[in-house]
Amino acid sequence: MDFTVESATSAVVGSFDATPDPRLREVMQVLTRHLHDFVRETAPTVGEWNTAIEFLTEVGRWCSDTRQEFILLSDVLGVSMLVETINGHEGGTESTVLGPFHMTESPRRELGDSIDLIGGTRVCVVTGTVRTTSGEPLADAGVDVWQCTEDGFYDVQQPDRQPAGNGRGLFRTDAEGRYWFRTVVPSSYPIPTDGPVGTLLGATDRHPYRPAHVHLIVSAEGYEEVTTHAFVAGSAYVDSDAVFAVKKNLMVEFVESTDAGAAAEYGVEAPFVHAEFDIVLHERS
Ligand code: BEZ
Ligand code: FE
Repeated sequence: MDFTVESATSAVVGSFDATPDPRLREVMQVLTRHLHDFVRETAPTVGEWNTAIEFLTEVGRWCSDTRQEFILLSDVLGVSMLVETINGHEGGTESTVLGPFHMTESPRRELGDSIDLIGGTRVCVVTGTVRTTSGEPLADAGVDVWQCTEDGFYDVQQPDRQPAGNGRGLFRTDAEGRYWFRTVVPSSYPIPTDGPVGTLLGATDRHPYRPAHVHLIVSAEGYEEVTTHAFVAGSAYVDSDAVFAVKKNLMVEFVESTDAGAAAEYGVEAPFVHAEFDIVLHERS
């Protein structure tokens, strides 16, 4: 049969009929249908299609051990958050994008340690409890945190200016399921714009900023791991995160405290900023 605009889809969908893995067959056939509909609706010229292919080629060229431009593309298109949201666990803390900066292992730290190795100006203590969906505290849960500097850069972006592991820490909760660590008050910052994803944001008049946040991956034996953020309530860009990760349940008040007793307990000087972020893990199914 002749290849026509109308017959194209059934011909290509049918070409995957014999795929042994049923999930791969389903994914390729649905992809074909949606991709063909996209092409029929937008009717690109051959030149425009070549531009699209050159763009994706450039995204691949920018990928390296320290840069993941495809994750960035998936993030700014809202696809990463869609996948996270589809795979969320009812009753557990909501999950968000991993982002491209969790590429090194966080150094193991003791409860109360600071992840700020360069002496930032606004000291902050983050505390919380990890619990099950029925409210039981989870002892010995892993709390992996990472955060950029007050200037808005992760250690991997500034290997000449920041020690490796700055802004990162892997903690384990105590017998009551509690965790606490010192850091600096998070800042809002732009995602990297020097590559093709930045060019796309510029061409579409979109800003690259993310609201201030701390990243966390929380895990415990027998429970679903959650990748999430604690967002600074009231931060700039909470209503227009470049990667669409904000959820209202992840908004955390970062409160100025003058409590000298609490400051002494956490090993900081009053006044300091305190944020409390509790986590709920869903039992593994
Ligand atoms: C981040 O918060 O580290 C991030 C997330 C998505 C894209 C770029 C950066
Ligand atoms: Fe971040």
